[in-house]
Amino acid sequence: MPNSITRNKGDLILEITNMTKTFGPVTALNNVDLKLYRGDVLGLIGENGSGKSTISSIAAGMQKADSGEMKYLGENWAPKSMIDALDKGIGMIVQESGTIAGISVAENIFLGNLNQFSKYGFINKKELHARANEVLRNIGIDNIDSSMIMGALDFQSRKLVEIAKVIMKEPEILIVDETTTALSQKGREILYKVVKRYREENRAVIFISHDLDEIMEVCDTLTVLRDGNIIRTFKKEEFDPDQIRLSMIGRELEGDYYRSDYDPTHGEKVTIELKNATVKGHMYGINLEAHEGEILGIGGLSHCGMHTLGKALFGAVKLDDGEALVNGEKIKNEIFATKKKIGYVSKDRDNESLVLSASVKDNIAIAGLDIFSIGNFLVLYSKENEYVKKQIDSLLIKCSDSSQVVQTLSGGNKQKVVFGKWIGCGSEILVLDCPTRGVDIGVKQAMYQLLYRLKKEGKTIIIISEELPELMGMSDRLIIMKDGKINKEFLRSKDLSDAEIIGYMI
Ligand SMILES: Nc1ncnc2c1ncn2[C@@H]1O[C@H](COP(=O)(O)OP(=O)(O)O)[C@@H](O)[C@H]1O
Ligand SMILES: [Mg+2]
Repeated sequence: MPNSITRNKGDLILEITNMTKTFGPVTALNNVDLKLYRGDVLGLIGENGSGKSTISSIAAGMQKADSGEMKYLGENWAPKSMIDALDKGIGMIVQESGTIAGISVAENIFLGNLNQFSKYGFINKKELHARANEVLRNIGIDNIDSSMIMGALDFQSRKLVEIAKVIMKEPEILIVDETTTALSQKGREILYKVVKRYREENRAVIFISHDLDEIMEVCDTLTVLRDGNIIRTFKKEEFDPDQIRLSMIGRELEGDYYRSDYDPTHGEKVTIELKNATVKGHMYGINLEAHEGEILGIGGLSHCGMHTLGKALFGAVKLDDGEALVNGEKIKNEIFATKKKIGYVSKDRDNESLVLSASVKDNIAIAGLDIFSIGNFLVLYSKENEYVKKQIDSLLIKCSDSSQVVQTLSGGNKQKVVFGKWIGCGSEILVLDCPTRGVDIGVKQAMYQLLYRLKKEGKTIIIISEELPELMGMSDRLIIMKDGKINKEFLRSKDLSDAEIIGYMI
């Protein structure tokens, strides 16, 4: 990156003209024009599959457009790879994991630049780790040691390392693709600080998020994409949530967003429960019952134990003490839970809920095998196709066809595949850990309405979430966890206040 650069506020730094990109029958970008100016934090917003990741990843050298032009610092811009783009000043924190699991944090951070630490063919690990730790501390990450193996870190920590890896190169343009969804408040603050500094230094930022409140707060300008087209660009003083939503989905949202009633009644029968359940280091002595026709919300800060609790309800974690029961029977493991019609959407969707390298069809069909197979071996393919198609249609999953590999779907569409998998096979109990993470409003609304319908049909639904509005909006009963224990329980009511609930989280 040239150091002699002068950074004047308002100078055009990146210009994209007439860009088109297709994937088979899908037009991801349709003749798009975009301008980015120094000192500007430009938000990109739009429903899943609208083209946000595609346009940014082309600018960042991850893939190539079919046609169109890019100019960066006034010159033609055609990066050969992401590393090449980053070297020349455009860096992107990608939406789906951009790190390598089997090597250390330090090696991830300096990937492609490890030579500077090698002498006679050996890497000076001590120096590498020290430098990487310095990079982490500089942006305020103090709980990750650079010698740790990447794969041992949780989702949030992996994301923070990715941020460090890009920031270390101090790009002129920083692209942040749906990163904050994976972060707790502390992680977000780290990123917001970087964004703020980039604005002040007259660099530029492209900030992608599906969280409207966040994006209005963080950005100076906001461009709305829909189906690969740029619909409208809003300046800060024009920001208006209703107008923005309207241009995102192209129509007014009809009906309720969450449920509109305040009636917390449900069936008598206890379907799933935890008795004195303990998983050391995560949760202690948890007693909990959920009923037929009940939506039970579970909230708290990200390390309060609620994600482990969700795993315990699906038999996906070993209890050190106590037990988990479904209709009175002990939940032995995940296979047993699936047989007993428990469906589970994991927070770590990509690693736990989906086979990324398999097709949409195979992912959806896997839990429904009982329905369209005879005995253990014979699969009725026509029935399977019909079953898969029904899920794709009813959840409006955006894919070129059911053979598309799940890895290539946008985040929200991946989530819909997970939903389709469990709802299609007739789950009686759904344990949903952050079910709407990375999903945008139009789809979220459809999911909420679907969950409400399932409640009315008598299903038990457990929503574990870091988003308080959704918990308050949907739950019959809301349990707040803190430090691995249940701290408070609220019944559905008009009078619940978020301030009071948050008080029990922290
Ligand atoms: N590698 C790919 N293969 C096939 N289709 C893709 C690929 N990448 C993106 N798409 C499709 O292009 C469209 C735009 O995707 P994307 O840019 O990821 O949307 P967004 O980031 O706005 O959610 C979607 O319909 C998506 O399924
Ligand atoms: Mg995306």
